[in-house]
Amino acid sequence: MKYKINNICCIGAGYVGGPTMAVIADKCPNIQIEVVDINKIRIRQWNEDNFEKLPIFEPGLAEIIKRCRGKNLHFSNFVEEKIKKADMIFISVNTPTKKKGIGAGKASDLKWVEACAREVARNAIGHTIVVEKSTLPVRTAEVIKEILNASQNSSSNESHLCSFDVLSNPEFLSEGTAINDLMYPDRVLIGGENQEAIDSLSEIYSRWVPRNKILETNIWSSELAKLTANAFLAQRISSINSISALCEATGADVREVARAIGSDNRIGSKFLDSGPGFGGSCFKKDILNLVYLAEYFGLNEVANFWESVVKINSWHQKRISEIIVKKLFGTVANKKLVILGFAFKANTNDTRESAAITICKNLLNEGANLVIHDPKVTATQIENDLNINPVNSLGNENSFFNAKAGNWEHSKCINNLEIFNNAYAIVILTEWDEFRALKWTEIVEKMVPPAWVFDSRSIVNTKEVRDAGLSLWRLGDGLGD
Ligand code: UDX
Ligand code: ADP
Repeated sequence: MKYKINNICCIGAGYVGGPTMAVIADKCPNIQIEVVDINKIRIRQWNEDNFEKLPIFEPGLAEIIKRCRGKNLHFSNFVEEKIKKADMIFISVNTPTKKKGIGAGKASDLKWVEACAREVARNAIGHTIVVEKSTLPVRTAEVIKEILNASQNSSSNESHLCSFDVLSNPEFLSEGTAINDLMYPDRVLIGGENQEAIDSLSEIYSRWVPRNKILETNIWSSELAKLTANAFLAQRISSINSISALCEATGADVREVARAIGSDNRIGSKFLDSGPGFGGSCFKKDILNLVYLAEYFGLNEVANFWESVVKINSWHQKRISEIIVKKLFGTVANKKLVILGFAFKANTNDTRESAAITICKNLLNEGANLVIHDPKVTATQIENDLNINPVNSLGNENSFFNAKAGNWEHSKCINNLEIFNNAYAIVILTEWDEFRALKWTEIVEKMVPPAWVFDSRSIVNTKEVRDAGLSLWRLGDGLGD
């Protein structure tokens, strides 16, 4: 037995809710999907006629929105109304790390999820399946269930005729490849207690995902599996980044080491690219959630183990900033540095937890004048990210960064090469394709000698850079300049 799902409501039109609902709408034309959000600007952007102006840049997304919007995919601020109509509700709201109170700095702030659950409790009619899609701490489903059940037994829901099932269906999409990840997932995970509810969600995915890739677990395994998957992925990056420092010290090359270990089937070759440190909205937050959970259960060794993955990521970003300063004769004060890339990875306009934020702040604190270019990140976004007093953000324990803070400006274009005029160094922080094809022989003419290229993403052709007369530092390159 399954529940018939004709109407889906997704609360939260962000990086998870938007693309996920777009793909479900595309694959299930007979289901009406309403994506709702309290943020009016975001909804207006989702309804833009100009598809360049959608709030999220994600390859393949605009095409799906073109196909489905107005047919079976709708974006609005009518949260209550759409909850009432829905047979199934996805909760895809943000869950940032708590800034204050119990668990501050580690636990997720569940106030948006709680508000959502209360909204659902107040408005749902009939039987509703509530699906947690946001990355949540383990046992959040329990909280949602409690809120929903309380309303079932009280008079707060006007209809008095409501019942709920709660499922955990974590998202494994990766930004930049989200549409592909949603269309061809390695697995879909559904955690729940009621088989009928599980079957109803499973039936939706089975329209395009092979049955053997739809895994069913209990609700807590599903929640914990999401945190664990992200922790394992992040751990691989911290591991290889720690080895990059050792490579630089010993004369080894981190790319060669990664290739050598990655060819071992047991290790595998993915997620071994050394870079400026992992960013994105999930990795740090999820590991800190795991740390909080372990501490809560008195498992301090487990907590320390996972926390070190985050600590080494921060150390690594600081290490890169320090190398840049040291190579530029110990000071970047009043020197122009061109920063290429601000997004936390290529093919996204997302800057959440981007290593570029920390590295730029460090350099600004050393007095550098930065010109920042990213093909998809706007000047306003960069301003939001950097507009924190740099001295405060670094803390006082960091004596390395103590000069007068510098300035930064945004540059929209690198094609005419003007951006490189009088620059002392170029720092590559995101692996955008357009940075691979730079004309180094022309660029070097514009810069102040001895001009430097710092490549934290291993994307430049090292021979071309060096032949052009530039000094090159590449992450994890023990034989570098
Ligand atoms: C991640 C998970 O991959 C996804 O399954 C989950 O649902 C959400 O979190 P995302 O944050 O979009 O996805 O990006 P991801 O590709 O995982 O990259 C995260 C960070 O790690 C980026 O800053 C990226 O540059 C960095 N990274 C990734 C490396 O430095 N090296 C690698 O080899 C891979
Ligand atoms: P994610 O990466 O998890 O998708 P985002 O921050 O991109 O996170 O998106 C979450 C969205 O959820 C935001 O657009 C926010 O306005 C929305 N949101 C948060 N709380 C509520 C709520 N109670 N009702 C409706 N939308 C909400």
